Amino acid sequence: MKLLAIETSCDETSAAVVEGGAKVLSNVIASQEAVHAAYGGVVPEIASRKHIEVVSYVVEEALLKADTALDQIEGIAVTQGPGLAGSLLVGISMAKSLAYARNLPLVGVHHIEGHMFAVRLEKHVPFPFLALVVSGGHTHLYKVDGFGRYRILGQTRDDAAGEAFDKVAKIIGLPYPGGSIVDRLAAEGDPDAVRLPRPLLHDGSCNFSFSGLKTAVLQYVRNNPRSIEGPALNDLCASFQAAVCQVLVEKTRLAIRTAGVKRLVVAGGVACNHELRRSMTDMADQEGVELCVPSPVLCTDNGAMIAVPADHYLEMGIRSGLDLDARTVWSLDRIDRGMFG
Ligand code: KG4
Ligand code: ZN
Repeated sequence: MKLLAIETSCDETSAAVVEGGAKVLSNVIASQEAVHAAYGGVVPEIASRKHIEVVSYVVEEALLKADTALDQIEGIAVTQGPGLAGSLLVGISMAKSLAYARNLPLVGVHHIEGHMFAVRLEKHVPFPFLALVVSGGHTHLYKVDGFGRYRILGQTRDDAAGEAFDKVAKIIGLPYPGGSIVDRLAAEGDPDAVRLPRPLLHDGSCNFSFSGLKTAVLQYVRNNPRSIEGPALNDLCASFQAAVCQVLVEKTRLAIRTAGVKRLVVAGGVACNHELRRSMTDMADQEGVELCVPSPVLCTDNGAMIAVPADHYLEMGIRSGLDLDARTVWSLDRIDRGMFG
């Protein structure tokens, strides 16, 4: 099927045309990063207004880039949740209008489902696999046995990994969203320079906690008489990043052993992180599992990833009605598709 997929759950307005749940014909992403940077974080009201301003242009451009007319589209996919209510509603309204006007099948998709299947746009990863989804809003470990068949093995008890990156970036005076900047500065720093905790590293669970680590960075900054800049800033970034990555890697190792899987998918915005990609590669080699990480553009929020599960559901005859509503809080384990393939 040739699908038009729309994603507006946070601060990226994205639309994509994807064929057969695997071939990306276009993937247009309009980021609001610069708008929210002035406020040090996403302002929900501004996010929804910005989505409204650009969504129709983004959809138009996705069709144009895919060299596809609307009447060649066979189905509409949209992120139904979780996310910001106002943001989700813009994409959902657009998707519903198109489905209604063109009499096309419509399906609402869980945002995390999109992240963990994004890799299939580049490479077919057979089931079962373990998925670590690390983004601004999520830090989850799932055993994935098929579409709609997810078993949660671990999750964060407080901050998400990306949220910790962004909050630490703010503490040390970097602009929002700071994850990629911390990554860049850390490349020049010494990861052993500042002693920071590895929360829950040895608790025997696959759960995470990053809020204490963030507080430890705050304490370090407050206790430091001089302002932290130059090489000292690089060292702090490298030390923080090393702490996050070590915990993510060791918990993922435990989950691999628990689930007995041979493939590991790492997805979500934090999967762009260079040190995480490097240390996951080492761990996967040691454990004898195949590591599958999407290209950076498919790690962060995008419409194409939403089309992957959507294509499967629509092929199975699973559809959402025009009463489809945003689900701001939506647990992936409670996903109910009626039938799974
Ligand atoms: O998946 P995503 O685009 O949006 C959510 O679903 O949250 O992830 C965005 C998150 C932000 O917290 C951002 O700082 C983080 O991913 N991120 C990174 C890197 N690139 C993006 N964190 C660490 N290193 C990076 N290179
Ligand atoms: Zn996301």
